[in-house]
Parts: sequence; C-alpha cells; structure tokens
Amino acid sequence: MEDPSPIRPFEVLFDRAEPSPIDDEAYAPYGNFGFPAPPAGRPWVYSNFVQSLDGIITLLGKHASGGEISQSREDRWLMDLLRANADGILTGMNTLMEEQRSRGPESRGIVFQVADAKLRALRRRLGKGRERNIFVTRAVDLDLSRYKVFDGDLVDAAVLTSPAGAERLHAQGGDSHVTIIAAGNGETFDLPRAIRKLRQELGVEYLLCEGGPTLYGSLARADLVDEKFMTVSPIEVGQIVPPEQERLPSERNISPLLRPTVFGGPGFTSDNMTHWTWLSSRKVGDHQFNRYRRKRS
Ligand SMILES: NC(=O)c1ccc[n+]([C@@H]2O[C@H](COP(=O)([O-])OP(=O)(O)OC[C@H]3O[C@@H](n4cnc5c(N)ncnc54)[C@H](OP(=O)(O)O)[C@@H]3O)[C@@H](O)[C@H]2O)c1
Repeated sequence: MEDPSPIRPFEVLFDRAEPSPIDDEAYAPYGNFGFPAPPAGRPWVYSNFVQSLDGIITLLGKHASGGEISQSREDRWLMDLLRANADGILTGMNTLMEEQRSRGPESRGIVFQVADAKLRALRRRLGKGRERNIFVTRAVDLDLSRYKVFDGDLVDAAVLTSPAGAERLHAQGGDSHVTIIAAGNGETFDLPRAIRKLRQELGVEYLLCEGGPTLYGSLARADLVDEKFMTVSPIEVGQIVPPEQERLPSERNISPLLRPTVFGGPGFTSDNMTHWTWLSSRKVGDHQFNRYRRKRS
C-alpha cells in the first residue's frame, strides 16, 4: 500500500543539469530533471547510492540494505524518479541476494520497480516501455527460480554474464522469461561489451546502476559511469563492524570485517583517478542529494 502522506519538497541549492524533457507535475517535489542524449553505441549510465557521512553504504549483517543507511522517504522517492527515467535498472547479483536474505528464508527476493503512482505515470508519458531489471553475475551456481524477479510477470528481466555462465543458465531451463546476454570468452566476462549489447539488443538508452560496490567499481574502472546521484545521510557508522553487532555465518571468520564504500575492487592511482563536475545539489532536512557528471575531456 502506498504511503498517502506527501514527501517534503527538495530545496534546490543549485542545479546546472539539462531541462526536464516534458512538463509533468510528477517532477514538482524535485524540480528540474533532465539528461543529455545518450552516447553512440551504449547507454548513458547513471548510478544511485546513499552513503553515511563517513562514506559507508551498508552496515553489513542483518541490516545490510541501503534503506538502513538512507532512513529517508525522500531518498526512496528520488530512487523512483531515477527509475522512472531508466530503460533498465542494473545491479550486481549480490544486491538482489542481500535483499532476499534480509527478508528471511521464505522470501523470493524483491523486484526493483517504481512504487510512486505519479512517477509510474511519468514513466509512461516519457514513452518508456515495461520496467526492466538487469543483473550481472558469473552464474556459477545461480538458480533463477529462487527469485521472483525472474518470473516475468512484473518486469522484464535480463542477466549479463560470461558465455560459460550463459550456458549454465540455459542448461537449467526455466529461463524462458529471462533474456540472457553473454559477453566475453569462456568464463571471462566482458562488462563493456555487455553494456554495449544492452543498447544494441534491448534498446536501452538510459541505464540506472543501483549497485552494489563490486559492480560499481568494475563499471567505474571501465569508465562506464557518466553520472552519479549520491545521497549523503546524516549518520555516522564507522568502517569496522563493531563487536556488539551480530554477524551472519558468512561474516564470522573475517577480522576486521570492513563495511564497503561505493567503490569496490581495485581503484585508481593519482595518475588515473577520475574527475567529476558537481552538477546539482539539493537538501531535505539534514539529507544532501548531490549529482556529479564525469569530466572526460
Ligand atoms: N547504500 C546503497 O545505496 C547501496 C546500493 C546497492 C547495494 N548496497 C549494498 O551493497 C551490498 C552488496 O554489495 P556487493 O558489492 O556485494 O554487491 P553487487 O555489486 O550487487 O554484487 C556483486 C556480485 O555481482 C556480480 N558482479 C558484479 N560485478 C561483476 C563483474 N564485473 N563481473 C562479473 N560479475 C560481477 C557477481 O555475482 P556472482 O557472485 O553471482 O558472480 C558479484 O559477486 C548489499 O549489502 C547492498 O545492500 C547498498
């Protein structure tokens, strides 16, 4: 059931982004919201994360979901605005698995969808097709039937994987509602090629990356992130999981257990770090909503 009380409006501190493509009352809480044309041959890729004041995106353990860091209805609404403008939502497989784990053994996980009715209507007015969830995985022992997102009734689902991963998924059967896109060689997965295939084979022009850090880090290393939407939540949590936090079985033998930032895996050096333009900033209460665009010239 949708929450009937309205969200608070975003206070615009500054905004240098493109104008909204159409006039629609659904934009009202946020104000202006536009994108440039997508680049040739691949989608425009924009990410959305929420982090604590100290840069952490998950507490890990039983409270691993991004909502535990966000604690903001406006941040949840902004996620819908970003989803309404996307032809596909991309996540790493572990983000789906964490959502499923946090809901208990009976859960079949979640479907990444626009919840707000006005934003669903905006999505239709923008001419977007059926919502699409896209997952990146090596598909080593992935059973698609364990997750409701692959049932095919609520959204279109796609999986990006290596050729060997694709063979394993096809061999399982039960993938008739899922588009499997293979890129690479054998067990080696070619992420840039897979992203290009999303444009060529599925017509994805605007791709929203909702994480997690492993996927974000590999997209960033391949210089495939064009924009970052970054919510800063006014909480401080620290990087090392404290002794008083209950651990999951998979976390028990790791010491110290470190909470991730947005960027997982190998990063950059002072020679090849990437640079970004701060495109817009808004606030609601003590939460910051920032938007950055990659400087490539
Ligand atoms: N605060 C936020 O805004 C936010 C947003 C998103 C997620 N999170 C949190 O982040 C945590 C999950 O982080 P994560 O880094 O483990 O998640 P992730 O990036 O969603 O998933 C990692 C998995 O995705 C697949 N993958 C990602 N990049 C790949 C690549 N380049 N090649 C092949 N496979 C690739 C692999 O799946 P296989 O193992 O199946 O091969 C990998 O194990 C969760 O707790 C989630 O709640 C927070």
